[in-house]
Amino acid sequence: MGEPTWTREKLQLLVQREIGDYKLIVVSNRQPYVHDLIGGELSYASPAGGVTTAIDPLMQECGGTWVAFGGGRGDWLAVDETNRIQVPPDDPSYTLKLVWLSEHQQQGYYYGFSNEGLWPLCHNAFIEPTFKTSDWEMYREVNREFATQVLDEIDGRPAAVFTQDYHLALLPRLLREADPDIITGQFWHIPWPTYEIFRICPWADELLDGLLGNDLLGFHIGDHCDNFMEAAARVLGSQVHDEYNLVYHKEDPTLVRQFPISVDFEGISLESQSPEVAAEAESLIEKMGLEDKIIGLGIDRIDYTKGIPHRIRAFGRFLEKYPQYIGKVVFIQAGVMSRTDIGAYQLLAEQVDEELEKVNSRFGMGDWAPIMYLPDDLPAVTLAAFRRMAHFCVVSSLHDGMNLVAKEYVASRFDEDGVLILSPFTGAASELTDAVIVNPYATDDFADAICEAVEMPYEMRHERMVGMRSVVEENNIYNWAARLFVDLMQGTRRSRRPIRSF
Ligand code: F6P
Repeated sequence: MGEPTWTREKLQLLVQREIGDYKLIVVSNRQPYVHDLIGGELSYASPAGGVTTAIDPLMQECGGTWVAFGGGRGDWLAVDETNRIQVPPDDPSYTLKLVWLSEHQQQGYYYGFSNEGLWPLCHNAFIEPTFKTSDWEMYREVNREFATQVLDEIDGRPAAVFTQDYHLALLPRLLREADPDIITGQFWHIPWPTYEIFRICPWADELLDGLLGNDLLGFHIGDHCDNFMEAAARVLGSQVHDEYNLVYHKEDPTLVRQFPISVDFEGISLESQSPEVAAEAESLIEKMGLEDKIIGLGIDRIDYTKGIPHRIRAFGRFLEKYPQYIGKVVFIQAGVMSRTDIGAYQLLAEQVDEELEKVNSRFGMGDWAPIMYLPDDLPAVTLAAFRRMAHFCVVSSLHDGMNLVAKEYVASRFDEDGVLILSPFTGAASELTDAVIVNPYATDDFADAICEAVEMPYEMRHERMVGMRSVVEENNIYNWAARLFVDLMQGTRRSRRPIRSF
């Protein structure tokens, strides 16, 4: 393969040139490094999820400050008196500034409005959103608190603020009102629903007003941009210029563009080839008795949007339809528990256990089970080893903005082998067309797709994996960030600045 268009080094040069004297600030709910305190010992870990996976490598290259909620038990011990810490802890390259939220604030803002309201609103998973006025009030309060912290960090200097995700939809407007010279951009990491769905939110207009405080607003795919622009036109009566992807609200334009997010292809590919990952894979194969098995893999946050019960049902159906594979094909489902304070997530955990029990009791033998469920926060080296070992990886989301697990699997297959089974309801499906695409609701088709992956001849696996790797290698995370930066610094209100070529 040739050299990818965008590398860490090229991005660093671009950001230095584009940012110039502007201070770069990333803001998100979730922090990239969480500190824990176990038996008086301070440790740290990177949380699961797209924001950390995508943004941390960029910040490591570009420097600046990342402002996030300090949710770790050991965070207060790790920070200095200004609530800042240099990260990554092993080799610091940027500043992390933590914002403290009370239990009451977290309940209303994070569990409540963000994850019981906006999350189900934006994902077609048939979970009814809950909209409580008290949660909304708390969401507004916490967005104001983030604005205060960001403005304190900016301290009147020229700054570009890059906000992440749905927890902070009101922040850009607050920043613009405080200082119209701040450059504001936001990436919405989840889908944006159709107008018919979005308008059920009682505060639809305020959310749109907040987001239209951005100079640039990014989504993974064009459909989400179109949905957003339709909502702005129909809810707020904003002027939308489809041909330029511009929305005018309160006289100011917001550029709405698609930026399909990605992963650090090269970093993951190299990690997968490391002796540590090879040794871990060898030891896992031995410990788990996988020597002569065909291995399927799922890695997810345990979330109802990921289609985990659907996947387990399909694997059971596969063993039923193709009994010659009983005892020969195993499925490893790794996952980290998530948002467990919310009823829908507790229900999901029960559903997963029930589906597992059905398949494992029917097709298991003695203490051997065809599905190995590991709902733990596994170390990165173990996840990398699983990706390297797996003959096929399943991503069966019912709805997903992008899904980086799919791209991580492809990036880790330096051996150019392995099959990706992918839901068409992920953003990734529009790029990874060499995957085996299957509807997770169609259990029989899904079972056949697993059989197709198991039986696919090497030449075809190789050809399809090479195709997918070249897509992820080219559209890597640095490409994503470079396109975003250029649009952020040169787009819309900034267009009066001379356009520089790169
Ligand atoms: O990908 C969507 C997202 O909300 C990310 O913002 C986040 O990193 C991930 O899901 C994990 O969610 P949470 O931060 O609630 O654990």
